[in-house]
Amino acid sequence: MKIKKAIIPAAGLGTRMLPATKTIPKEMLPIVDKPSIQYIIEEAVASGIEDILVVTNRAKSAMDDYFDYHPELEERLARAGKHAEVDIVRRTADMANIFYVRQKETKGLGHAIWRAKHFVGNEPFAVLLGDDIMHAQKPVTKQLVEIAEEYDCSVVGVQRVSRQAIAKYCTLGVTPVRERCYDVTKLIEKPRPDQVISDFAILGRYVLTPGIFDILESLPAGYGGEVQLTDGLNILCGKERVMAYDFIGKRYDTGNLKGYLEVVVDFALEHEEISDWMKAFIKNKAENL
Ligand code: G1P
Repeated sequence: MKIKKAIIPAAGLGTRMLPATKTIPKEMLPIVDKPSIQYIIEEAVASGIEDILVVTNRAKSAMDDYFDYHPELEERLARAGKHAEVDIVRRTADMANIFYVRQKETKGLGHAIWRAKHFVGNEPFAVLLGDDIMHAQKPVTKQLVEIAEEYDCSVVGVQRVSRQAIAKYCTLGVTPVRERCYDVTKLIEKPRPDQVISDFAILGRYVLTPGIFDILESLPAGYGGEVQLTDGLNILCGKERVMAYDFIGKRYDTGNLKGYLEVVVDFALEHEEISDWMKAFIKNKAENL
């Protein structure tokens, strides 16, 4: 099993980040000096992915433009001798083969993934959710790809979350296989307290076999009236092996204001050009609060 394709669902309306997302796709909000979607694409590329399908909607054209060439800007920069800047703006267009498909209607994550069926064909593929930005030594998608290739099956990226938080995610029934690796026996999306099976929740990363598409095709709407990928996986794990990998890394939820600010500060603290300035700034602020 070789994983060369990835899907990035990016058709959400960004309602948790209004008013900023009224006209700017939430994936284009900057984290320090790059839009958040760039971190996702960089993770995919660093995990061996070559072809990426972004599932968008009609309000997301700024994203397509970002991953395209910008001849006028490049020419101006070149004429001004700003060659480093030319490289910066070119690089985003040359990072990977990026394709787009529109979801047309907001019908849920399961429906967004199903829209990618023709792009994916009969191969396993990765899914990276745009709201979940990872900080990890080995890219989280790569961690999952390695397990999927070893066991020849679907793998979902999980971490333990608190009992209060799990209602925002999903819960998984698991049996241990080896350190950090589990077989998945059951999944429930957005569980009520009495439905929680374990503390493990999927956090934004998946490697899936194409078997999921037939399931999604006829899957009825679930939580929130939307077609849920988790419901599809619950059926898939009854038909074929699905594993969970407790990935190593910190995950940020950039889809809400607190998670967004957290990642901005953390990444600024690590940014080679501004890290020292940022540390001094925060120290000074903390002393004067
Ligand atoms: C989605 C998935 C959910 C997962 C979560 C975090 O939920 O449906 O299973 O736990 O992402 O990755 P959403 O954040 O779209 O409500």
